[in-house]
Amino acid sequence: MSKSRRSEPKESDLEPLPIYHHKSKLVRAVKDSTFLVVTGETGCGKTTQLPQYLHEAGFCKKGKIGITQPRRVAAITVAQRVAQEMGYALGREVGYQVRFDDCTTEDTEVKYMTDGCLLREVLADPGLSQYSVVILDEVHERSLNTDILLGLLKKVFSNPDKANKGRRLPLKVVVMSATMETEKLSAFLGNCPVFVIPGRIFPVKCSFGSAVGPKETESTGYVKEVVKVALDVHTSEMAGDILVFLTGQNEIERACDMLYEKAETIDYRYDVHDRTVEGLLILPLYGSMPTDQQRQIFQPPPRGIRKCVVATNIAATSLTINGIKYIVDSGFVKQLNHNSRVGLDILEVVPISKSEAEQRAGRAGRTSAGKCFRIYNKEFWEKCMPEYTIPEIQRTSLTAVVLTLKCLGVHDVIRFPYLDSPEERFILEALKQLYQFDAIDRRGRVTKLGELMVEFPLHPGLTRAVLKASSYGCPDVMLPVAAMLSVENIFIRPGHPENQKEADQRHRALGSKSGGMNDFATLLSIFQLCKSSEKPSAWCKENWIHWRALKSAFSVETQLREILLRLQQRSDFPVESFDGNKNELFRRCLCAGYFTNVARRSIGKAFCTMDGHGSMVHIHPSSALFENEKDLDWVMFHDVLVTSKVYIRTVCPIRYEWVKDLLPKLHEVDVYELSNVAREEVTDEEMAKWENKEAAKRQQEASAEEALKKLEK
Ligand code: CDP
Ligand code: MG
Repeated sequence: MSKSRRSEPKESDLEPLPIYHHKSKLVRAVKDSTFLVVTGETGCGKTTQLPQYLHEAGFCKKGKIGITQPRRVAAITVAQRVAQEMGYALGREVGYQVRFDDCTTEDTEVKYMTDGCLLREVLADPGLSQYSVVILDEVHERSLNTDILLGLLKKVFSNPDKANKGRRLPLKVVVMSATMETEKLSAFLGNCPVFVIPGRIFPVKCSFGSAVGPKETESTGYVKEVVKVALDVHTSEMAGDILVFLTGQNEIERACDMLYEKAETIDYRYDVHDRTVEGLLILPLYGSMPTDQQRQIFQPPPRGIRKCVVATNIAATSLTINGIKYIVDSGFVKQLNHNSRVGLDILEVVPISKSEAEQRAGRAGRTSAGKCFRIYNKEFWEKCMPEYTIPEIQRTSLTAVVLTLKCLGVHDVIRFPYLDSPEERFILEALKQLYQFDAIDRRGRVTKLGELMVEFPLHPGLTRAVLKASSYGCPDVMLPVAAMLSVENIFIRPGHPENQKEADQRHRALGSKSGGMNDFATLLSIFQLCKSSEKPSAWCKENWIHWRALKSAFSVETQLREILLRLQQRSDFPVESFDGNKNELFRRCLCAGYFTNVARRSIGKAFCTMDGHGSMVHIHPSSALFENEKDLDWVMFHDVLVTSKVYIRTVCPIRYEWVKDLLPKLHEVDVYELSNVAREEVTDEEMAKWENKEAAKRQQEASAEEALKKLEK
């Protein structure tokens, strides 16, 4: 293999990173045992340096080095950095892979990827035979996929002799964590060795504010306050960069706009020659930002200019920005939580935990003493902030993960080695959903459909809609919809009211082009119109659509199509026929996937969901159906937004007949009956008992219906 290496690995700072002094001992420790836990302060060089050390020590001669990250931005930016440090072009020897974006080749030796990507690789190759080292990074973040990978690797490699049979080199597993949960990790991995990289931390002085108290947990007024504090820091504190923590893209962009405006007025107010007032370089940082813009974050600001990075939680541990001396902490984070009120996973803004707040503050003390300004008060800290962040596995839907485990032959999903077990009812809920989607049978075994479903990096419902459409021979209507629902929001929402009015009009016009009463069809039509237009980017601008989001949707659609083509070559791929109109076919396919998200007209403008929760929901104002809801009876929706009301977004009308046969499935199995299925193979005897009970229940229902009919007569 020809190497294009131009220079020796460089250290990131002028002064070597703390990890540098432990290089040879670390390499030795990795060689010496199957599992190794490595811990050290964020920014000490774990993510960027250890893979380079292992590469240098020859670990890539007989396999790759794979490093997982919970966040895609981290995987991408870190790979860029490491490629640069090693003097390679990104995507060759050093590459990255995240969902729908693979920047690696056959020759890639050091591969950064999201934990979800590695989990997919385990599905295809449980022994991870291509790798010589797998590094699970940022384990303290406790993302769902990292937790599952930990359990799987423990299960497979606890018996290294057996697991390594036939491998060219025994697999080494390194688990890296920034915080000190190391004893627990080591105990989990059979008391494996722990390597601590001693860090240097400088004191950070934290102060509480008064803007947010226990009553303000749901307000968004904190953006204004954060901006004010950041400007105060800028005008009154000594040199040093500022890092502001907010929760998401919209908020961050709003804060940056406010900062731009205010920063300009500051410059006016003071004499430009006054050296005490430096300029302020304002940089947003969030997950779906273009990569070239992300790179800027790490560059030192021009002389005499102060950098102010406004970021999501990604800057808390995944990414380290040098030169930060001041933190402004909003106290909030956006988190995916299972909402039992509506029975769905919902992205919510919630108070951070105390440990998270400490971590944020710590970012100011990497190279010298720093300050952290919390905009919330002490009472908020005491009453609203939990001690620790709850692991994702204990607060989100497990449907996709349980299907993956089942496909890997892990039948007993309750006694799987979890670092922290999820509540049993979450596992049962996942099994119930898989059963409803026909991904598993009553004995908990994966069905043919389940085997197809697991191949798609999509929500099972969406996958089912895609598969249904393909079995009818019309994937062209569903693949674009699936792609559009998998990328960030495509509709631009301008801040200025005049522009907002125009954007609304444009969006409504796009909706009516596709019939005006179906948000899914609108997505399809936007996809097609843009794709076929001569200048797609200009088309987007004119219609207030995010061109970048659409570009990703095009690429996602291609990738989904490739997966589908591969699956269609299987002999057991389902084929069905349909003779109705296209519009109906489209909505029927959607129903196949979203019958769990069906609602029926209730009182006034409210609809009532059919999933057993019977929640009252309202159509979101952004939907094309919002103003025309009068004549609607049954609707199907893609997602839910909870504010003061529960809103359903991306909606389309359906007919009861289309879901009539599917809806009973929602109530057919009792979650608790599934607990057998969760544990072990169900015996024939148990199965018979269960079926008898079911038959009796159906009999009862039938006679009740009969009686009702008689009464009606
Ligand atoms: O993983 P850990 O938190 O221990 O540290 P790291 O991510 O390896 O970061 C080591 C150093 O590299 C820090 O000083 C970062 O600021 C720097 N770095 C950078 O300048 N640009 C990147 N894209 C990534 C890291
Ligand atoms: Mg790291």
